[in-house]
Amino acid sequence: MPATVIVGAQWGDEGKGKIVDLLAAHADLVCRYQGGPNAGNTIVTDGQTFKLRHVPSGILRGKTCVIGAGCVIDPEILIAELDGLEARGVATKAICLSGNAHLIMPWHIAIDGAAERRLGRLQIGTTRRGIGPAYADKAARLGIRVQDLLEPKILRQKIETALTEKNVWLERVYGSEPFALDDVAGRYERYAGRLRPYVADTSLLVHRALKNGLSVLLSGAQGSLLDLDHGTYPFVTSSNPLAAAAATSLGIGPNRIEAVIGVAKAYVTRVGEGPFPTEIEGPDGARVRELGGEFGTVTGRERRCGWLDLVALRYTIRLNGITALALTKLDVLSSFARLPVCVGYRLRDGSETTEFPAHQSDFHHCRPVYETLSGWQRGLETVEDLAALPDAARRYLAFIERQLEVEISLVGTGAGREQVLSGGGLEALAGRGVATPHARS
Ligand code: IMP
Repeated sequence: MPATVIVGAQWGDEGKGKIVDLLAAHADLVCRYQGGPNAGNTIVTDGQTFKLRHVPSGILRGKTCVIGAGCVIDPEILIAELDGLEARGVATKAICLSGNAHLIMPWHIAIDGAAERRLGRLQIGTTRRGIGPAYADKAARLGIRVQDLLEPKILRQKIETALTEKNVWLERVYGSEPFALDDVAGRYERYAGRLRPYVADTSLLVHRALKNGLSVLLSGAQGSLLDLDHGTYPFVTSSNPLAAAAATSLGIGPNRIEAVIGVAKAYVTRVGEGPFPTEIEGPDGARVRELGGEFGTVTGRERRCGWLDLVALRYTIRLNGITALALTKLDVLSSFARLPVCVGYRLRDGSETTEFPAHQSDFHHCRPVYETLSGWQRGLETVEDLAALPDAARRYLAFIERQLEVEISLVGTGAGREQVLSGGGLEALAGRGVATPHARS
């Protein structure tokens, strides 16, 4: 059985959690492959709102949920999330946490905040959850991993080693308070007790699930344009949200991945700094923000809003090998009479391109070229299938499909779990019933 990746195709907050939740009904295993508590998934089910940070939304469907090696974990946040789920009657026994995932330590959070403050006007606009510093320590081989929680002596030693360097850095470079070994070690020893039952060999677990023909969803956090290698560097996150990273981050072969579902909003949002060609200035931008509830789940920050950018989407379709699109929040555009869609970029030398600029300074200076489509100016609450969408909405979707040469298989029309229209075949989208050579392995 092949695995299916669900990937954000813009700058994050595309509504991946909701699409994962929908497809999880037809899947057996839901895995998160990168990021940490910089992510926030909001799921509305039976009138209840759940805000998830670390745990894949499949938990609300009672599915086995994996937090893979490529993730960074803030134990305090994860424990609060587990406690919160249990307090609301959601069982958490089926959560499996990779021992190879790295821990976010208190100094990571302190350094993230201090580094941003020092950058001033040049700041990245991070979520200040310690993500960048935790991944940096992982690459520098100074990181502390989930499996270290299981060995109190090793844990204390590693904290001590890290602190001899981090405290100098914090005090001398940033003028911040140092951390005391006993405080940090004591805290992390307590976390260890709570998290121990969840730690598992998740690479083996996912491998066995695939081998046994189970349906496996792999879900990234953030979005493709925040990818460390191919996103809008330096205004990116410090991991790889791209679909291919699902394989390395979970510890399975890339040939296990068959389908890649890209999730994009019917418009675009971005949090934090960095260029954004289709950003809407003025009242229309505020209107999209209000109608779409575009305020960060994690930080509460206002999200910057823009018109749909097909140049950027064409790029992320290429980067991920997207085989189907889920277009979310179409309803947010319902009240607009005219809908600009970006079909090209005008570069500094006056030329136009439909491909995403390979160099940062070209992207910084490009201007969007729009085609304006008619709006439908009708609510979509009562629409129950794609064919019943207003003509102008169907033209909007058909235009996107034609430009991008990818099918839109799912369309979001509201916040509720049931407000996603599909052309049918949710099971197939979740990877169930797709025969491939792997089914025999
Ligand atoms: P970091 O991931 O906290 O280091 O932040 C780096 C950049 O990624 C900033 O521009 C953040 O606003 C952005 N970012 C991180 N996580 C998310 C997310 O879940 N949604 C949208 N933007 C995010």
